[in-house]
Amino acid sequence: MLTLDFPGSRRLVDALDAAVGEREETAITEALRTTLCRLMRAKDVALPDCCFERASDHYARRELYRSEDLDYSGIAMTRGPGQGTPIHDHAGMWCVEGVWAGTLEITPYELVEQRDGKYRFEPRGTMNAGPGSAGSLIPPHEYHTILNPSDEAIAVSLHIYRGAMTSCAVFRPNGDGWYARDQRQLSLDRTH
Ligand SMILES: [Fe+2]
Repeated sequence: MLTLDFPGSRRLVDALDAAVGEREETAITEALRTTLCRLMRAKDVALPDCCFERASDHYARRELYRSEDLDYSGIAMTRGPGQGTPIHDHAGMWCVEGVWAGTLEITPYELVEQRDGKYRFEPRGTMNAGPGSAGSLIPPHEYHTILNPSDEAIAVSLHIYRGAMTSCAVFRPNGDGWYARDQRQLSLDRTH
């Protein structure tokens, strides 16, 4: 179990533990979403300063908390202007994310066909999520892209995952409407 000490960290962990203690996935993700929105609105939690530092060549992932007992983790992500992800899955894990600063452009995708190692997706509407908002996903509805659409501002979000997500599948466009699948290891950036 790793817990970083930052203003409101104890309150954050207590609130997350309580939400994850719900009995089934829909109740857990809904409780987490409500909890994150409440904490952000009340400005009860100040994420560590390092979470507001971008990395130049990738979006930064910093683990703030991992509960072995309740089997979930909290990862702060920092995206510089224009930094985003290809279509990816969530390794079958539910996830709730709250936007702390900046804006995220999120596009969910449905997997509509899979054949001969190729995949086809359809977008399901892009949304812009601003500070204080939170969203969730539950597999099999787990495919999406996330982009910081700003020209100048960073975007900071806190992602709560079932378990520790150490790898996921990313999908590369073939140019003919189909995608190829690659497994990608997810690394963590340093916290300080
Ligand atoms: Fe994601």
